[in-house]
Amino acid sequence: MTSLRIEGLTKRYGNMNALDEFSLKVDSGQFMVLLGPSGCGKTTAVRCIAGLVNPTSGQIYIGDQMVNHLPPKDRDVAMVFQNYALYPHMIVYNNIAFPLKMRKVAKNKIDDKVRNVANLLEIENLLDRKPKELSGGQMQRVALGRALVREPKVFLMDEPLSNLDAKLRTYMRAEIKKLQKKVGITTLYITHDQIEAMSMADQVAIMKSGLIQQIGTPGEVYQEPANTFVADFVGSPSMNFLKCNIIEKNSGITLESNNIHLQIPQTSWTFEHSSDNLILGIRPRDVTILKNDDFIGIKIKGKISFTELLGDDSLVEVDIGVDSIRVTNIDPDFDPSIEKEVMIGFPYSKIHYFAAETGKRLMHKTN
Ligand SMILES: Nc1ncnc2c1ncn2[C@@H]1O[C@H](COP(=O)(O)OP(=O)(O)OP(=O)(O)O)[C@@H](O)[C@H]1O
Ligand SMILES: [Mg+2]
Repeated sequence: MTSLRIEGLTKRYGNMNALDEFSLKVDSGQFMVLLGPSGCGKTTAVRCIAGLVNPTSGQIYIGDQMVNHLPPKDRDVAMVFQNYALYPHMIVYNNIAFPLKMRKVAKNKIDDKVRNVANLLEIENLLDRKPKELSGGQMQRVALGRALVREPKVFLMDEPLSNLDAKLRTYMRAEIKKLQKKVGITTLYITHDQIEAMSMADQVAIMKSGLIQQIGTPGEVYQEPANTFVADFVGSPSMNFLKCNIIEKNSGITLESNNIHLQIPQTSWTFEHSSDNLILGIRPRDVTILKNDDFIGIKIKGKISFTELLGDDSLVEVDIGVDSIRVTNIDPDFDPSIEKEVMIGFPYSKIHYFAAETGKRLMHKTN
């Protein structure tokens, strides 16, 4: 078992940093997901690790060995791509056997390994087929098989499920996760899909414009996002944000957001904050449409402006003046007709506070 460690990796293209002092440690046997929007540098990071791109600066360690100077074939990493990159003229057996043949492994050993991997991936019955005779999910399994057969120290997967339809993607993400736990290979998995990331990761690293924003378990990045970018990117529908001025700080704070006053009692805020403004964040699932007035927390009057059915849940957008708030914690009996006047509410303990200038999370007590 081997860990993967990346220290201060920078990749410059012209005057743009595709990676900017990127550091990440994937522990032995861990499933790390690198999550970020299109163009943020995810593929550049894995291509540097695999040795396909030369970083401008920084070090890559596999176990204790610095591998920057090693050619791709000597790095003992296997990569699975979005487009599978199977050899179209070879049957599945030969596709899987190929990396071993290249390494001149004995024929009977190759046969053992290919059959083992095929068994693990449940594709024994496909070994004689050509890639064009396979479904997307089957091709993806063969690509995984070809990577696994080498028993690499590190597995790199660059959006391996993005060519599959939604149902198969959900199925395959569970399969990949199970497989990874079974074989225990240290894995860096890339995706721009936060649901995929949250459901698969032991740890998730969220990046933006070549910079890591936060690393943590899916629970940590969801519950305590380090900044507004992470808060917005993780969770669906995304967090509501209200820009607020602090207009009073006495036995609590009073915030003002576009003429709406929000009273927050002292017990629920302990952060040190020097500026006069901040950003209040609240997740749609933490906001509810109140049935009566005896709710303890923030209460805001508004009018329903939009509704949408999201599978089993509904999303209701409530216009509160200048801003609107997305709400998903809705009683199934509630009739969300447009223009209806409602009172929405959310508990103090569910509020996230961010600095207005930097977007960084402000610490606060949750009770
Ligand atoms: N060979 C190259 N020359 C110049 N710029 C490049 C090159 N490769 C990547 N870039 C730029 O580097 C940035 C990061 O690209 P990268 O492919 O790593 O993003 P990504 O996070 O994988 O995006 P996606 O989710 O769309 O695959 C992008 O702005 C891209 O245009
Ligand atoms: Mg990419």
